[in-house]
Amino acid sequence: MLDIIQKRRSCRTFEPKKVERDKIDQLLRAALWSPTSKNNRPWEFVVVENPETLERLSKCKSHSAAFLSGAPLAIVVLGDPAKSDVWIEDCSIASILMQITAESIGLGSTWIQIRLRTDDEGNLASENVKKIINAPGSLEVLNIIAFGYKAKERAPYSEDVLLWEKVHYEKF
Ligand SMILES: Cc1cc2nc3c(=O)[nH]c(=O)nc-3n(C[C@H](O)[C@H](O)[C@H](O)COP(=O)(O)O)c2cc1C
Repeated sequence: MLDIIQKRRSCRTFEPKKVERDKIDQLLRAALWSPTSKNNRPWEFVVVENPETLERLSKCKSHSAAFLSGAPLAIVVLGDPAKSDVWIEDCSIASILMQITAESIGLGSTWIQIRLRTDDEGNLASENVKKIINAPGSLEVLNIIAFGYKAKERAPYSEDVLLWEKVHYEKF
């Protein structure tokens, strides 16, 4: 597990190759088995492979989503605030477990932040995304995760980057 965590780096350029159905299902198993507060499972996942939809999603916010148009697969992670007051935590856990699972099955991924982000006109990216994927207005979008086969490998993290000074024992 630590090897996988050390190797996982955000990947923003992908090979033009579809992700197989069984690999998509493995990502979804990781999400659907993830822990949630009170086992409320307030999340919803929208799998997107349609290039036109991916292109539209890549423009849902001002910065840092453009590379989505070159990804073969994205999963939009939504939460229901009416089902849980900690939907953000629950959706974040499902997201990172999908990213770690992706690394373990030879896929790259990147988290694209949607919550609290806006487009060039100041519209909420979350509202833009919901319109594109026909999601109910009552849900919130946490992120979109881009997945695919890595077009280039990035060096894994080294021991040197570990910020051990962030760790405190017994008292801060
Ligand atoms: C909460 C969160 C939001 C992020 N938002 C974006 C984003 O909108 N676009 C993007 O390209 N990368 C995004 N990233 C990826 C980070 O830039 C990346 O994880 C960070 O630079 C560390 O690099 P690494 O993933 O290779 O370890 C996000 C990551 C997290 C955890």
